Amino acid sequence: MALPRITVLISGRGSNLASLLAAETAGRLHGTVGTVISNRADAAGLAVALAHGARINVVDHRAHAERERFDAALAAAVDASRPDLVVLAGFMRILGPGFVGRYRDRMLNIHPSLLPCYPGLHTHRRALEDGARIHGCTVHFVTADLDHGPIVGQAAVPVLPDDDEATLAARVLAAEHALLPAAVRAFCEGRLAIVGRRVRVRGERTPATAALFVPAA
Ligand code: GRF
Repeated sequence: MALPRITVLISGRGSNLASLLAAETAGRLHGTVGTVISNRADAAGLAVALAHGARINVVDHRAHAERERFDAALAAAVDASRPDLVVLAGFMRILGPGFVGRYRDRMLNIHPSLLPCYPGLHTHRRALEDGARIHGCTVHFVTADLDHGPIVGQAAVPVLPDDDEATLAARVLAAEHALLPAAVRAFCEGRLAIVGRRVRVRGERTPATAALFVPAA
């Protein structure tokens, strides 16, 4: 049977995209990243996609005065790639309800916080300002309610006393690179079921530790 076809949307560096491509190469994704679409022509992630042999496309948001026009152009590009799954991996544009509804239950986003804490931007700065001791990342289905869709998985990291935004972001990013391929694989294997606002992950493993204590007891 053909592997599920994945289209990834990016805006910049593309390190989460790279984590998906590495998982695909290692046979751990159970899906194929066929197309990568960026809203910026200078996104470094486009070169990562090309090196992997994926098709690339640019839909520049600045070429469209209204968001609806941009969303329509983006939807046309996404549809042309005939995806089973759309993954927002560092895609930094807000998508309107029409676009979101079109890919309902088959579009995932990676967000750098433990949702529902810190939706939106500057998540690491806000966690530090609040004195949070545990922070992390979330993969969720995309709904029209920004950063609030059903949660597929989360990874938690400690916030250390000497952390600044950069060191905390790096620790969370390493967790993102493990979480996103695992979540995408679960989708590709048909193991995700949305039940109301929750996601059931069939065959998920119980974590080895019951809780993360920071500071440790
Ligand atoms: C990641 O932290 C992602 O969670 C956020 O933007 C960053 C993108 O990084 N939305 P990259 O482009 O995947 O390297």
